[in-house]
Amino acid sequence: MKEKILVTGGTGYIGSHTTVELQNAGYDVVIIDNLSNSNESVLDGIQAITGIRPVFVKGDCTDIDTLRKLFEENPGIKGIINFAASKAVGESVQKPLLYYRNNLNTLINLLELMPEFGVKGIVFSSSCTVYGEPDLNPIDETAPIKPATSPYGNTKQISEEIIEDYVKSGAPIKSILLRYFNPIGAHPSALIGELPLGVPQNLVPYLTQTAAGIRKELTVFGDDYNTPDGSCIRDYIDVVDLAKAHVIAMKRMLDNNDTDPVEIFNLGTGNGLSVLQLIKAFEEATGVPVPHKIGQRRAGDIEKIWADPKKANQVLGWTAQADIKDTMANAWRWQCRVSGKN
Ligand code: WQD
Repeated sequence: MKEKILVTGGTGYIGSHTTVELQNAGYDVVIIDNLSNSNESVLDGIQAITGIRPVFVKGDCTDIDTLRKLFEENPGIKGIINFAASKAVGESVQKPLLYYRNNLNTLINLLELMPEFGVKGIVFSSSCTVYGEPDLNPIDETAPIKPATSPYGNTKQISEEIIEDYVKSGAPIKSILLRYFNPIGAHPSALIGELPLGVPQNLVPYLTQTAAGIRKELTVFGDDYNTPDGSCIRDYIDVVDLAKAHVIAMKRMLDNNDTDPVEIFNLGTGNGLSVLQLIKAFEEATGVPVPHKIGQRRAGDIEKIWADPKKANQVLGWTAQADIKDTMANAWRWQCRVSGKN
């Protein structure tokens, strides 16, 4: 009998790639998504890759009755991976209440229903943003949590605390908090990928849209940082590598009774890449030029951050595998598909 996993936000970027890897690993997947930042056609892509169409419920996780009905109609859910959240840093500054209501109420509803329906564990989609600007890199899980620099980042910090407090209160559940660095790329099949609505805020989708001629040129937000080439440094992690880490975390949570009730892992490659280095990697991987210019710094940007992934490597037995050029080639193949270039 296959174990059943609920993936909230499962038609989103990381959720869809994680659904594919869960199905590949033999899990049954139920997706709930309100389609506020994704499209139901993503289910076709998932099915085309795995041959299995996940159960899909269109709904809003901030409504507890919707969630309760989902658990009643899909009995036997053993684990949850919670991706459902608003995630645009800039937008969160403009609309803080939307972010606190959506991201926190979603989590609280899920946690409240877990014991009622015998759900054993929840993997939470957290972010390296909880660390703020690190005092030193690479950064491991013992690094201090700095005051959030955006309501989005604050919802991640508060969510981690909510889970810790709920488990400490004696709730019969477990959790694994996964702190992502910068997820990029697309499935090698080019059947699923990142579908940013409107003008992309993140670097890679803006870069691929520029390479495709959709955007005139990419602005590098500053080259006067204290880094080798002056542009910001990040730890860019392939989305399929990231998805596989979620499957390993879920298996660890459901199959082990001797692990701590709450565990935290940084998910990164351990390598820092600058914006200019990423542009170069894309051009070398695809042979496609990326028209770009140096512009002003973007408010709120962190200068440099990259992971020390030793704990995930040793405890989860997970290591990022993808080569950055392969990741860039996959991102380009996906861009060509969505913009009808192939
Ligand atoms: C990366 C680098 C920019 C666009 C954010 C969130 C994080 C996570 C990922 C949700 C920075 C530079 C970008 C552009 C540029 N979000 N850049 N020109 O800001 O590191 O992380 O997204 O889970 O929580 O904080 O990612 O891709 O926006 O920026 O030069 O047009 O690219 O300055 O140095 P970021 P990003």
